[in-house]
Amino acid sequence: MNKLLIFLGISLLFLMIAFFPIHIFLRVLSGMLAVPFLYIVFILSYSIYQFSEFGGNYQSKIHDVIVSKVDNDSGKILDIGTGSGSLIIKLAKVFPGSSLTGIDYWGENWEYSKAQCEENAKIEGVADRIQFLKASASKLPFRDAEFDVVVSCLTFHEVKDCHNKTDVMREALRVLKPGGTFVFMDLFLDEDAFGERAVLVADLTDIVELKHEELTEVLDLPKLLLNKKVLGNAMVFHGKKTK
Ligand SMILES: C[S@@+](CC[C@H](N)C(=O)[O-])C[C@H]1O[C@@H](n2cnc3c(N)ncnc32)[C@H](O)[C@@H]1O
Repeated sequence: MNKLLIFLGISLLFLMIAFFPIHIFLRVLSGMLAVPFLYIVFILSYSIYQFSEFGGNYQSKIHDVIVSKVDNDSGKILDIGTGSGSLIIKLAKVFPGSSLTGIDYWGENWEYSKAQCEENAKIEGVADRIQFLKASASKLPFRDAEFDVVVSCLTFHEVKDCHNKTDVMREALRVLKPGGTFVFMDLFLDEDAFGERAVLVADLTDIVELKHEELTEVLDLPKLLLNKKVLGNAMVFHGKKTK
């Protein structure tokens, strides 16, 4: 939402300048500069609509894909970058025998908070089984092999305090038990963030048995969400930790 408002503000500024009684060249230039910003505003608004419950509900549909790959009813589940807690709350409801933890750094870039997560868990009647902790995905405050299941949705690419995203994924796998399940959804096809896919996969296969699918193979997405800046680079990595 913050990004949307910033780009909307810039677009409106350029549009207003285009209507000022100034030199025609500056007016045309300003009108032209407004176009790419208006395009970004359109893509962002459309994405927010499609992700929301009142639109296409794609945030929830993506979480359903992740939940469908989890197979542990009674263990300890960790969600890294839990945001508003929606994925971990969904897991708590599907797996009533589990105890769950959601971590996030809840930075200023996002409109999520720990209090919001706790309130959401309370509303959904699962607050007694979920704890929310403030921590960075790059340095998890847990022992090795503490969890039976580790999930994460659209978070690794956001982690700013560790440049190498494979290290962040290995940190997530560190806290998973051997034989435990992981499901990671992220923009793994974005080579700027994750490097070449083959190298990324090779870097992980010494400790995991890894399956990977493009999100479009498991979920039908509207064309505009396939923009590379939205979900065009999204993949699901899932499997078991081997050692
Ligand atoms: C795109 S949101 C996804 C939220 C949630 N996983 C979901 O699917 O609804 C990215 C999340 O990553 C979190 N995040 C960014 N950097 C982080 C870090 N270093 N450690 C933990 N969480 C982080 C943000 O606060 C935000 O909640």
